[in-house]
Amino acid sequence: MDRVLILDFGSQYTQLIARRVRELRVYSEIHPFHMPVTEIQAFRPEALILSGSPASIYQPNAPKPDPRILDLGLPILGICYGLCVLTDFCGGEVSRAARREYGPADLLVDQAGDLFTDLPPSLRVWMSHGDKVDALPPMFQVLAHTVNSPYAAFRHRERPFFGVQFHPEVVHTPQGKEILANFLFKIAGCEPTWDMKSFVASSVEKIREQVGNGRVICALSGGVDSSVAALLVHRAIGDRLNCVFVDNGLLRMNEAAQVVDTFGTHLGLNLISVDATDRFLKALADVTDPERKRKIVGAEFITVFEEEAKRLGKIDFLAQGTLYPDVIESVSVKGPSVVIKTHHNVGGLPEKMGFKLVEPLRELFKDEVREVGRELGLPDTILWRQPFPGPGLAVRILGEVTREGLTLLRRADMIVEEEIRKAGLYRDIWQAFAVLLPIQTVGVMGDERTYEHVVALRAVHSQDGMTADWFRLPYDVLATISSRIANEVKGVNRVVYDVSSKPPSTIEWE
Ligand code: XMP
Repeated sequence: MDRVLILDFGSQYTQLIARRVRELRVYSEIHPFHMPVTEIQAFRPEALILSGSPASIYQPNAPKPDPRILDLGLPILGICYGLCVLTDFCGGEVSRAARREYGPADLLVDQAGDLFTDLPPSLRVWMSHGDKVDALPPMFQVLAHTVNSPYAAFRHRERPFFGVQFHPEVVHTPQGKEILANFLFKIAGCEPTWDMKSFVASSVEKIREQVGNGRVICALSGGVDSSVAALLVHRAIGDRLNCVFVDNGLLRMNEAAQVVDTFGTHLGLNLISVDATDRFLKALADVTDPERKRKIVGAEFITVFEEEAKRLGKIDFLAQGTLYPDVIESVSVKGPSVVIKTHHNVGGLPEKMGFKLVEPLRELFKDEVREVGRELGLPDTILWRQPFPGPGLAVRILGEVTREGLTLLRRADMIVEEEIRKAGLYRDIWQAFAVLLPIQTVGVMGDERTYEHVVALRAVHSQDGMTADWFRLPYDVLATISSRIANEVKGVNRVVYDVSSKPPSTIEWE
């Protein structure tokens, strides 16, 4: 299988480069720009791509790769800052541009063929740079320019070194994928063989090799990642995989039953379902602090899981749905990120319990995980499930978590989901849910004055949960949800809509 290595200089778009390359069915990995040349060789890539960066090549501590990458005989594509690296290494000049260029630009192709094979002479591209190439290195020729960038794309006359000032990896460069395809297939001679069918086959082999005759345990949450990981391991070793599903009592309406039905009954996994509602609610009694709620749910989960694991006898491995974005050793340009909320994950389990890890999705992006899930027969309801936090409804009931609050919120939440689906918006929205507020307000029903709870609706649009904007739900959808909740959920007489973005708010209310 052909592989492409992407050297990361800290651009916000580096992951997109990897995704585009994989969408073109060539396997790619991201590594830090300072990856030693011997390791680059050991990776055996067909080509190198140098990413963008917030840095400038002429700064004293500019990130620079080992210059010997030029001597590996590999085709190289430098994007934005990557183009500056090539310029610098090959004897050209880069300086600060008088004007930062940010946004769309019209690229005029001077030299058809190469990167621009089968593309029109003028293309819309996306620029985002503050530096410009002043002088091309010797032996290089211009391939395309824009009004502001005379050297918007260039190549070495003899060697397969290419640079583009613009970003072919972003959607705002509509033909960017074709440009990348030209680099991969016409210049680097890659074969498009990376697909999820072959991934499943090779991954099953790898799991069998790693696990041998051992036994594996997996904490199934009903989310996409743990579900796909479990199904892959199941395909590899069958009943030597034991899945544990912990019903913490903080799930949505019918969720526990659905997980048992899907994985136990339909997909035939060896599944233990534990109803631990009582102990979770007992531990949460009187607790109102959001961080304490998270910690309690995390700790209870580990205890329950440990008990179940012990009951199963000797288990050697723990399967986890870790994804590629969690393992990329990205070049941090912002410094260590501040922990804003304690996100409970099963991540604490292995060190404590001495399991070896099986992480079959470590190489995959989320969209690839969904494709694998589809290959393995996972139903759409799980494949396209909106994210749901580990502490569940506990962080959507402000104040103390009670059984009454849970019952009420579950009903409201079900109405939100039903109406969002009915409106055909479920997949357009990152998350849509109801929140139970710890206040009561006055209302009127029939001839009676009421004094009951307020439910807040939250629906957000997001790429990755890191930032988000409130979703512009149509008024009639809001109206239906509001009136259904007030009419059908006893104890609620008012519904409000949350119009806050993240930042400064977070997606969850706690
Ligand atoms: P926030 O609320 O921080 O959420 O904007 C960002 C994303 O993370 C989810 N989330 C959690 N997931 N454990 C989880 O597994 C948690 O404690 C937790 N808190 C928030 C949230 O649903 C959103 O998708």
